[in-house]
Amino acid sequence: MKSLKLLIGVCVLSAGMAGTSALADGHLEGVIKARKAVMQLYAHNLGILGAMAKGEADYDAARAAAAANNLKAVANLDQNSVWPEGTDNASMPGKTRALPEIWSTYPAVVDKSNALKDAANALAEVAGNDLASLRGAIGGAGKGCGGCHETFRAEQ
Ligand code: HEC
Repeated sequence: MKSLKLLIGVCVLSAGMAGTSALADGHLEGVIKARKAVMQLYAHNLGILGAMAKGEADYDAARAAAAANNLKAVANLDQNSVWPEGTDNASMPGKTRALPEIWSTYPAVVDKSNALKDAANALAEVAGNDLASLRGAIGGAGKGCGGCHETFRAEQ
């Protein structure tokens, strides 16, 4: 908890001191890093579940439940602070694949985010039951990711 407060303090401080755009960009790069970390956590946990669903890994109820609960937890985080305006790929070329449409068509992106939340919540309900239940629910989560990427993420 102390380190979180410290982190927030440092961010606020660096934003406050950001008289030059170089400093401001440095701060925003850290923000982009954090949201990519959110995405990596999604991919990591969905990957565990996907391997079981495809039969590449043995089904393990406890592991499946843990991964699905993690996915649910991350999907339900308040992510507002990692999506500030000015962090699209036109404003920060080469740093991010986030398309400007996230902000210019807001709140359309919230629907995509909610679709993943619903799918992740449903998956977490059943992933630990058995392999058939996992297989039945994982597709919804995959679509939750793809649905947003199609509209709001640049190819590369
Ligand atoms: C509400 C929209 C949205 C949802 C839902 C979403 N993503 Fe993303 N994802 C993005 C955007 C936008 C980017 C580009 C972020 C950037 O480059 O700053 C991204 C980037 C990524 C990346 C690349 C991260 C990196 O290190 O560059 C991965 C991996 C990823 N998403 C996986 C997932 C998975 C898996 C899910 C579903 C469990 C998911 N995403 C759900 C919008 C979304």
